[in-house]
Amino acid sequence: MTTPPLRLGVNIDHVATLRNARGSAYPDPVRAALLAIEAGADGITAHLREDRRHIIDRDIERLVEVLTVPLNFEMAATDEMQAIALRHKPHAVCLVPEKREERTTEGGLEVAGDLERLTDFIAPLTEAGCRVSLFIGHDPRQIEAAARSGAPVVELHTGHYTDLVAEGRAEEAALELAGLKQGAQLAHSLGLEVHAGHGLSYDTVSPFAAMPVVRELNIGHFLISEAVFVGLGPAIARMRALMDAARG
Ligand code: PXP
Repeated sequence: MTTPPLRLGVNIDHVATLRNARGSAYPDPVRAALLAIEAGADGITAHLREDRRHIIDRDIERLVEVLTVPLNFEMAATDEMQAIALRHKPHAVCLVPEKREERTTEGGLEVAGDLERLTDFIAPLTEAGCRVSLFIGHDPRQIEAAARSGAPVVELHTGHYTDLVAEGRAEEAALELAGLKQGAQLAHSLGLEVHAGHGLSYDTVSPFAAMPVVRELNIGHFLISEAVFVGLGPAIARMRALMDAARG
């Protein structure tokens, strides 16, 4: 059996972080998105946070207008964000937990304990043609609940694994990776499409690219950071090459 292709979604949030640090018009995240597509991105991911700390509403409007690849719109499961998604109808909507005080999305979405509300929340997005994905940890309870929510996709949170690797905690990292692998298999066996992302870098991307059931990786902060030194195109091209090599 041949391994299905693996898509790379490039998250451009932190181009907007840099822009907003000065309140200037540059660097423009939409320009970054177009460059990312040229360099081989299969999709563009952007997270409109409640506090608009990086991506702002106008960025989403412009992305919807100009993108030639799917937009993966990350958002919290709130009425405000649902209305914005229903207005723009992006290809994909990724529901993430969101806390004002966090620096980045810290954990996965609580699906099992909020299943009824999330099922109702997802239905109109699906009816509008958006492919909804739920950003979750590898806990089987959350994966099984996701499979009952009406969402066709889960994105597994790789951030805990990448933190453990960065801290040199190899044994714990291996355990977390095993959990993510099992979670990916469980989600796939329940009929969910599996994506993964958060904190991925050249050093940590390979084990996820090598999992045949994983169909998409969403990567942002590392690529934008690397772009400062080598440019966005070369950074993406190298990530793509590592993904392809691991995929075999
Ligand atoms: N996937 C999801 C659901 C996210 O919330 C984020 C961060 O916005 C990413 C992927 C990308 O994470 P990073 O910027 O650390 O690569």
